[in-house]
Amino acid sequence: MMNYDVIIVGSGLAGTMTALELDKSLNILLITKKSLEDCNSYLAQGGICVLKNNEDRESFIEDTLRAGHYKNKKSSVEILVDESISGIDRLIYYGVNFSKTNNIYDYTKEGGHSTNRILHCNDETGKYIMLSLFEELKKRKNIKILEDTEVIDLIKKENRCFGVITKDNKYFASNTILATGGLGGIFKHTTNFSHIKGDGIAMAIRNNVKVKDISYIQIHPTTLYENSNNRRFLISESVRGEGAIILNHKNKRFTNELMPRDIVSRAIYDEMRKENVEYEYLSMREVGVEKIESRFPMIYENLINKGIDPKTENLKIVPSEHYTMGGIEVDEYSKTSLEGLFAVGEVSNTGVHGKNRLASNSLLESVVYGRKLANYINKNFERFNVDIDLKERFINLEKNTELIKEIIKEDERVKEYIN
Ligand code: SIN
Repeated sequence: MMNYDVIIVGSGLAGTMTALELDKSLNILLITKKSLEDCNSYLAQGGICVLKNNEDRESFIEDTLRAGHYKNKKSSVEILVDESISGIDRLIYYGVNFSKTNNIYDYTKEGGHSTNRILHCNDETGKYIMLSLFEELKKRKNIKILEDTEVIDLIKKENRCFGVITKDNKYFASNTILATGGLGGIFKHTTNFSHIKGDGIAMAIRNNVKVKDISYIQIHPTTLYENSNNRRFLISESVRGEGAIILNHKNKRFTNELMPRDIVSRAIYDEMRKENVEYEYLSMREVGVEKIESRFPMIYENLINKGIDPKTENLKIVPSEHYTMGGIEVDEYSKTSLEGLFAVGEVSNTGVHGKNRLASNSLLESVVYGRKLANYINKNFERFNVDIDLKERFINLEKNTELIKEIIKEDERVKEYIN
């Protein structure tokens, strides 16, 4: 029998940050479906928002609420903004080097932001954050990492969660944290890893844990149009923040590129229908031909490898699924409706994002709420030595995926995009 103080499912920023911030005396198991790096946080390009100064507080909150169509929970947004500076300081403490120009942080902009308030590590912000955190994670003697392991269900007894069931084992824990990410993998065209397909949300639903607004799905406006079913290559919104423009087949602009994502995606879809085409265009040349390669080295290299030179030609772009705003309903400490079970990051619904997430608020949410959750457990930890005789449950991951597809399909807006 394997008994842990805390089990964390998922190796993205939310799960990893929580693990690192938990007290070192706790015996922690971190389980992930593939390898540590195979998380969507690792793919994040644009950046991470931060409150630059007190004068920016009201406008940062307002930008987040406006992007979210005022369906956000305002108190959650205030926490996000007010704890952003200490969250970023913590990342710097763990070794993250955000890009600087002349020794000053280089704040960039994305859609929906009224000012430049996004820190970045070139165009691979998620990768550099995760590499720093993974280095620290691997040093921690109290954290055991289990890769290539599929969690299929929760262990539940008398309305309390006591761990998880994997394909081959049972792992008991006093506290269980779902940090399993969103559900992009069920979509035909997504920027997400294909194995991230709503497992956490499905487990919650099957165990009667409250979920909220899971059909609030974000479609990113600018992903590279390719004739394949592979993960769509994201062209970061910060490319538009630095000047890139969207064009139709007559080489004409038809939208404001820096409106919130849902508005830009809708404008592109409408234009595609009007022109009866499968893609529109993005011109990166407005970023400055000499700046494209230095500011966006990863995007540039990938495009060149695909035979596209953004310095001389337009990119074919199409909107694709990107993020799940809804999820398992949680309070400010990430507590779910099931005792002993917490949810953090994209799998959770803190109310921060409302109906449409403001660009670069997702990494920040993972940092801020991961830290709050860890602090909560550190203060309130109670050890249970559990040994529950479980009846065999014939659940598999395919069933979880089918459940998620069925629920999402009820939403007319997203139905046509599901695999
Ligand atoms: C992007 O770089 O466009 C994505 C950033 C985000 O999802 O907020």
